[in-house]
Amino acid sequence: MGNDNISNIDSGFNSEIAIQLEDVRKNFMNNEGELVKVLAGISMEVRKQEFVSIVGPSGCGKSTIFNIIAGLLEPSAGQILVGGVNVQATTGHVGYMMQRDLLLPWRTILDNVTLGLEVKGLNKKDRVELAMTYLERYNLDSFAKSYPSMLSGGMRQRVALIRTLVTEPEIILLDEPFSALDYQTRLILEDEILSILKNEGKTGVLITHDIEEAISVSDRVFVMSNRPTYVKKIYEIGLASKYGSAMKARSDDAFKQYFESIWSELDIQMGSAI
Ligand SMILES: Nc1ncnc2c1ncn2[C@@H]1O[C@H](COP(=O)(O)OP(=O)(O)OP(=O)(O)O)[C@@H](O)[C@H]1O
Ligand SMILES: [Mg+2]
Repeated sequence: MGNDNISNIDSGFNSEIAIQLEDVRKNFMNNEGELVKVLAGISMEVRKQEFVSIVGPSGCGKSTIFNIIAGLLEPSAGQILVGGVNVQATTGHVGYMMQRDLLLPWRTILDNVTLGLEVKGLNKKDRVELAMTYLERYNLDSFAKSYPSMLSGGMRQRVALIRTLVTEPEIILLDEPFSALDYQTRLILEDEILSILKNEGKTGVLITHDIEEAISVSDRVFVMSNRPTYVKKIYEIGLASKYGSAMKARSDDAFKQYFESIWSELDIQMGSAI
C-alpha cells in the first residue's frame, strides 16, 4: 500500500476514483446545421484499477464519451475529472486505443510501438529501450523488426495495446478492440488484455457490442440508452475477478441471467444489428 501511495503522488494521480463524469452533455451540429443531442447527461464513476464495460446501441454516443474522457473533445456541459483533476488540466493519464486503431503498415512493430513516445518527446535510445521492454514482457520482441502485415490479427491488436501501454497511462480506454477478430482469438485476447491490465495495475474501460464479452471481463457493466444517451443501468458483475479469468467467468451460473437481463435493457430495434 505504501508503494501505491508513492506512485500516486509521483504521477499526480491522487484519487480513488479514476474517472468521474458529472452530467456531461454533448451536442453536435449536423450537415443541415441542426443541433443533434448525442450525450443527454452522463454521470458515471470508474474506480481506480477497476475494469468496466460500456454497452449500448449503435451510434448512441459511446465513442463520443471516450473522446471527451481523453480530452479530444470538449463537452457542451458538465464536468470530467480524471484522477480527481479536471480533464483539461491532466496530461498523459489516459491511453486511448481508438475504434479501428490501425498500426501504420509502413512502420515496423517496434516503430509502431514507439509512436506515442515520439509524441511525448523521448529520445530515440529511451524510446527503443522502453518499447523493447514491453515487447519482451508480452513475447512480441522477436517481431520487433517485422511489419504489421506479417502478424496475425490478434497479434496486431496486442501490439496496438502495447503501443497504448508503453506511454504508461493510468487509464486505458479500449473502443471495440476485438470486433474484427475471429471468435477464438477474441476469447484468448480478452483474457490476455485483462491480465495485462491487472499486471500493470491499470484502470480499464471497454466499449463493446458483445454483451457476453462485457459480462465475462468486467467488474461492472454500464448499459447506455439510445441517442441522446444516458446511463440506463449499471450491473455489478465481478465474475472475471472472482475466477481470475474471463474465459472461466463464462461458465458461471449467473452468466446467462446477466445476458438476458442486459439484452432486455438494450434498446435494440429489430434489424438494426444486422
Ligand atoms: N465530430 C462529430 N461531428 C458531428 N457529429 C458527430 C461527431 N462525432 C460523432 N458524431 C455523431 O454522434 C453520434 C454518436 O457517435 P459515436 O461515434 O459516439 O457513436 P457510437 O455509439 O460510438 O457508435 P458505434 O456503435 O457505431 O461505434 C453519431 O450520430 C455521430 O454521427
Ligand atoms: Mg463507436
